Amino acid sequence: MALAIRVHEQPLDPEQAALREEVLAGFAATPKALSPKFFYDHAGSQLFELICRQPEYYPTRTEETILRLAASDIAALAGRNASLVELGSGASRKVRLLLEALRPTRYLGIDISREFLHASTRRLAADYRWLDVHALCADFSQPMKLPAEAMGERPLAFFPGSSIGNFDPQQARAFLRNLRQALPTGSGLLIGVDLVKNREVLERAYNDEAGVTALFNLNLLERIRRELDSDIDPSRFQHRAFYNEAESRIEMHLVSPKAQQVRIEDRVFDFAAGETLHTENSYKYTPSRFLKLAADCGFAPVSMWRDPAALFSVHFLRSE
Ligand code: AVI
Repeated sequence: MALAIRVHEQPLDPEQAALREEVLAGFAATPKALSPKFFYDHAGSQLFELICRQPEYYPTRTEETILRLAASDIAALAGRNASLVELGSGASRKVRLLLEALRPTRYLGIDISREFLHASTRRLAADYRWLDVHALCADFSQPMKLPAEAMGERPLAFFPGSSIGNFDPQQARAFLRNLRQALPTGSGLLIGVDLVKNREVLERAYNDEAGVTALFNLNLLERIRRELDSDIDPSRFQHRAFYNEAESRIEMHLVSPKAQQVRIEDRVFDFAAGETLHTENSYKYTPSRFLKLAADCGFAPVSMWRDPAALFSVHFLRSE
């Protein structure tokens, strides 16, 4: 039997429209920088799934354990007939930890990677036949309008993985305010937030021994080469990730070890020896710093769960 998912389309493909403009602007900026949202083409989404399985990358398995243990508490807070709205749903793996306990009426997966989103929501519909599954390809870092028929009366937004950490504080505020606007008052928000901790643990997580994070970072250049008219050569760049303690963030960069020129369309960009393209920040929070941010954006704390080593936190908040 063919299993239907309801696909909600946005008027423009957010990936294609933004990549060219943002690459040209980011390469012209000082320092050179690009948004981490461009990591997630099909290859990048697959590499990210692999990162999640690396022994050094603690966030995924720690959050999954927290969700497994807290699933019945979360279900009680969400109530019956909830509609689960997952932001950046990726492979829709974590949501599976909640579905049996929650038994929501609907599921809406939102992701920027269209192919990946459609494949994973289709798998979800096949595995949970009682669930009404919807998919929306959208860039949730922009103001969003969620399709009413996919939201129902009791939406529970789910934003796992500490993806909030990939926004700088101002973007995180804008994102949470946009989300608050898109949800009715009294909606739940279940959000994973990575915690401030010792530098060594953090730096190991972004410099795995198998080199998967390096490939993920370099795939951004592969993508530019594939999708834009450019002579960029990824083998002439190196992955670098370190903890910037003053800013409470991991920074990822692509370093040009030697001076080189990169052509994109008819423009040429100079890289000095040692110059970097800043590709990602991953902010780490203390629980109180995160709750202050959430409160400023209209979300009140209801419950928080952490692992015993306090590596990672999951918060249940309510919009007010
Ligand atoms: C998706 N996001 C929360 C990941 C992180 O940890 O910031 C992306 C990532 N970048 C490198 N490794 C994982």
